[in-house]
Amino acid sequence: MSELTNEIQRRRTFAIISHPDAGKTTLTEKLLLFGGAIHVAGAVKSNKIRKTAASDWMEIEKQRGISVATSVMGFDYDGYKINILDTPGHQDFAEDTYRTLTAVDSVIIVVDIAKGVETQTRKLMDVCRMRKTPVLIFVNKLDRDGKDPFDLLDELEQELRIRVRPLSWPIEQGVRFKGVYNIYEEKLDLYTPSKQTITESIEIKDIRSPEMEKHIGSDQAEKLCADLELIQGVYAESQGTADPVRYYSLVEQYLQGDLAPVFFGSALNNFGVKELLDCFVRIAPSPRPVVAEERTVDPEDPFSGFIFKIHANMDPNHRSCIAFLKICSGKFERNAGYRHVRFDKTMKFSQATAFMAQRKETVDEAYAGDIVGLPDTGNFKIGDTLTAGEALHFKGLPSFSPEMFKYIDNADPMKTKQLNKGIDQLMDEGVAQLFTNQYNGRKIIGTVGQLQFEVIQYRLLHEYGARCQWEPIHLYKACWIESRSAEALDHFKKRKYQYIASDKQGRDVFLADSAYVLQMAQQDFPDIRFHFRSEFG
Ligand code: G4P
Repeated sequence: MSELTNEIQRRRTFAIISHPDAGKTTLTEKLLLFGGAIHVAGAVKSNKIRKTAASDWMEIEKQRGISVATSVMGFDYDGYKINILDTPGHQDFAEDTYRTLTAVDSVIIVVDIAKGVETQTRKLMDVCRMRKTPVLIFVNKLDRDGKDPFDLLDELEQELRIRVRPLSWPIEQGVRFKGVYNIYEEKLDLYTPSKQTITESIEIKDIRSPEMEKHIGSDQAEKLCADLELIQGVYAESQGTADPVRYYSLVEQYLQGDLAPVFFGSALNNFGVKELLDCFVRIAPSPRPVVAEERTVDPEDPFSGFIFKIHANMDPNHRSCIAFLKICSGKFERNAGYRHVRFDKTMKFSQATAFMAQRKETVDEAYAGDIVGLPDTGNFKIGDTLTAGEALHFKGLPSFSPEMFKYIDNADPMKTKQLNKGIDQLMDEGVAQLFTNQYNGRKIIGTVGQLQFEVIQYRLLHEYGARCQWEPIHLYKACWIESRSAEALDHFKKRKYQYIASDKQGRDVFLADSAYVLQMAQQDFPDIRFHFRSEFG
């Protein structure tokens, strides 16, 4: 195997997603501890965006600044190179999370046993489903009372719209929590609260063996047998996953994004985390081929990558940013000349950084699957491609319909130029989305949360010296529209002229002011297709 193949195949680049408070930070931290990347618990936690009042966004931004270091956490584990991409917990930054999901090869979803599937998780799962990203689920907080595991599995299937297969099974929960039976490895993992970690892991292939009874008592052993039999009936593939054929089929379905293996545990107590990690490194995908407009790019092709995130420095004296590049193929080398496809010019990077756990360090080389940080002074925007020479444009960086909309107006006529430049650059950075009303030319900013309006206003003033003011506009959704018939499209645009806008790429967007209006439009104009994201077809 060549060095390149080996380096690529040992990479596992993924994100952990959850609804706030389900335990994402705690799980991330435990994974880092296993990787030897950090030595004390709490290291990641202290960088977490704390639960601040929504209006105190400066504080949040400051914390976000700190969290650049934890944006990507790379470490080695058992011969694998793991890259965990952090996603902001605050839901007003959901757009950031969507984009981060375009840079990962798989996802671990954390669900709180008591709360089940919550809004944020559902939305993020929609993005995974759309991209067919393989998903593994960790049901957390088994040391607390929560839902019945069977009910929870049903809920996961229904709410996340994916088939699930438990690979471990809890024995009781809350104060009576005894541990899990690891279906995947046919082991009993016993939980001892005081030790706060797995104390014993016993191989028990035959669940009816007296050994099981000896460890968990006859009542529990009986219940476990009944549960496992039920699981075997309902979720056929989960039993005997040690069997190579069954195992292969399960992994195949997982890799296709059709089935999510489920683990149970308690991140806080470091219970079930190592099992999750060990299974994850084995089955999770290494970097996969990426579709560009021109062709499908294989990870072993010459170097290519795209910018999926830009992190601005909040300090107005240093208008520098870090552009996060996901390497799609080949090897990135320090100071090699790469083609910036949009500008068609060659750029060299002497100060690119790799993210190894908590440290940022200058990178000499990196491989497909890795993320490198490129210092940027305004050269990059989201979606830009760098290659070894070929003109490639990667697909799959869609915008989603924002949730909140406001007209942005100039509050200082002397600074029109600055305002326009500021809006332009902030939108390129992906702070929010800009729509221009085709009828009156007014600019509308769309966001996923109130916080972004405040961020934009502040940054326009402090970085561009421009003043803006907002005018509320009540809109339900922005829908990208298309039709096979140019005539039908034209007719629709004429009929709805006040509600037609262009996005930043000049695509037609219908601004629906209510769900009802949208429904009526869909009904009255059957030739028009309405999309809630900018990339379709
Ligand atoms: P998040 O990143 O998804 O928002 O969640 P985070 O890890 O911060 O966890 C949210 C809360 O849940 C934290 O408590 C954390 O300690 C707790 N937690 C995480 N995993 C478990 C678990 O397995 N069992 C139990 N019982 N609790 C768990 P907190 O009080 O909000 O924060 P802290 O004061 O403990 O830091």
